[in-house]
Amino acid sequence: MKILVLNGPNLNLLGIREPEIYGKVSLEEIEKYLTDFAENHGVEIIFYQKNGEGELIDLIHRYYREIDGILINPGAYTHYSIALRDALLAVGKPAVEVHLSNLYKREEFRQHSVTAGACIGYIAGFGVDSYRLGLIALIDYLKRREK
Ligand code: DQA
Repeated sequence: MKILVLNGPNLNLLGIREPEIYGKVSLEEIEKYLTDFAENHGVEIIFYQKNGEGELIDLIHRYYREIDGILINPGAYTHYSIALRDALLAVGKPAVEVHLSNLYKREEFRQHSVTAGACIGYIAGFGVDSYRLGLIALIDYLKRREK
């Protein structure tokens, strides 16, 4: 089983960026944690962070044939990228959206996700643990589907 993990804009600055909201753990640490976790479950992970909307879309186009699912934190694109939503719908791979922060506790403009509707589900508000929980949910979903 292979999962594409995508991170959107400014998530390369995790650990430095607004730590009171996003925590002190870096994206490299998240990547290492998820890779180890996935390996222990016999899952391979392809991990990327891109600031550009088109770059994220290009990665979905590049990898969809060889992956089983997508774990994505679209960052601010969550709230307005219809193009990213369309890319997820176009390739038809099960995707799980994750957010470090609880969007419903935040500014009103963050309280709507245009991308989550293209996903099987989403997890938000658990900090870096949102990634682990999202990955478990996706792996479980894919395993159930295999049966
Ligand atoms: C975020 C929430 C978004 O609103 C924000 O633009 C981010 C991070 C999160 O993980 O909580 O970049 O996706």
